[in-house]
Amino acid sequence: MNITRYPHTQNRSLRAWSAADEYILKRLENGSSESKTAVISNDTFGFLTCHLHNLDPIIVIERQSQQKSIEKNLAQNGLKPDTTKWISPLQPLPEKADLGIISIPKSMELFRLYLRQIHSGLHENGEVICSFMTRHFTPQMLAIAGEFFDETDQSLAWKKSRLLTLKKRKAIEETELLNRIPFTFKNGEAEEIKQYPGVFSSDHIDYATQFLMEHLKLNENENCVLDLASGNGVIARAIQLEKPGTELHLMDDSLLAVESSKLNLHPENTHFHWNDSIEEIGDYKFDLVVSNPPFHFEHEVNTEVAVDLFREVAGSLKPGGRFLCVANQHLGYRTFLKKFFTRCETVAGNDKFVLFENSMAG
Ligand SMILES: C[S@@+](CC[C@H](N)C(=O)[O-])C[C@H]1O[C@@H](n2cnc3c(N)ncnc32)[C@H](O)[C@@H]1O
Repeated sequence: MNITRYPHTQNRSLRAWSAADEYILKRLENGSSESKTAVISNDTFGFLTCHLHNLDPIIVIERQSQQKSIEKNLAQNGLKPDTTKWISPLQPLPEKADLGIISIPKSMELFRLYLRQIHSGLHENGEVICSFMTRHFTPQMLAIAGEFFDETDQSLAWKKSRLLTLKKRKAIEETELLNRIPFTFKNGEAEEIKQYPGVFSSDHIDYATQFLMEHLKLNENENCVLDLASGNGVIARAIQLEKPGTELHLMDDSLLAVESSKLNLHPENTHFHWNDSIEEIGDYKFDLVVSNPPFHFEHEVNTEVAVDLFREVAGSLKPGGRFLCVANQHLGYRTFLKKFFTRCETVAGNDKFVLFENSMAG
């Protein structure tokens, strides 16, 4: 099979699958799983979906870029997607499953969410196989697995990866899914920001985001604003409180982020986009784009996604429009921003964060 990464990366050391993914195939290779109804969660680029296509599995999709990667890899291997079996982590399984497969994500909250979803749709004698690279192991994995199953069996290491096999479903109590973060905005308004598990910064409003919001002030003529990589939507909410009625667009690659932001914003004149590319959300031009862009992808530090987004922002501003972007000082974004914007100024900074204001010469 030919499996590639979307989004594409220039970094040749990054691969589209890991030994932990291969270990799952090795475990299943005796063929006994063929008659089973399987569900696959957190298949990052589509390696498992393609290799286990013969099982016609249910696929749990969280990121728009993950969906695109899976579609692309199925197509380039001549395999047809069965999109009727693609679900979000918030949906129940469409049919009872005998086999769950989880490539364990970095976020332990998200691991719990995937397990909870499979657990509630698993046959009594079903099993769940979870894979991870040994260097990413945390005891929390076992603790979370133990919340849902009586038997948790850890395999021997193979190519520096391991499997956890979970059997014997426990009866579990329904618990509240949402995290709630109390936050007081600049205007003194106190609210509870809600977010689903796995959404960025689960127990406090991120400090870089707070830094951006402290220095955020809309100009009078700024009426159409994009919160790019919007997460729980807290920056857009700050704008809504500062200037009610502003046309707001929020875009995030994560479905759980977009669904969270819907809980935190007033819906009037607010548009939510589950996407990883501004060019795909419509023919909009913005007076202002605000962002705390991503620089991590799972266990990888990756600034390529942010740089691609900067290029897209440059093409989506109205004449005279601004792009406000907060970043950790060490990321060195200025060089990239200067490539795409004719003006790149530091409007605020401290020992940790820097806030850039970018625009194009009129
Ligand atoms: C640093 S967080 C900021 C979230 C939110 N604005 C906040 O301040 O809490 C970055 C966000 O970028 C999202 N993301 C990653 N790649 C993306 C892409 N290509 N397009 C849009 N969002 C993306 C992640 O899902 C994450 O929610």
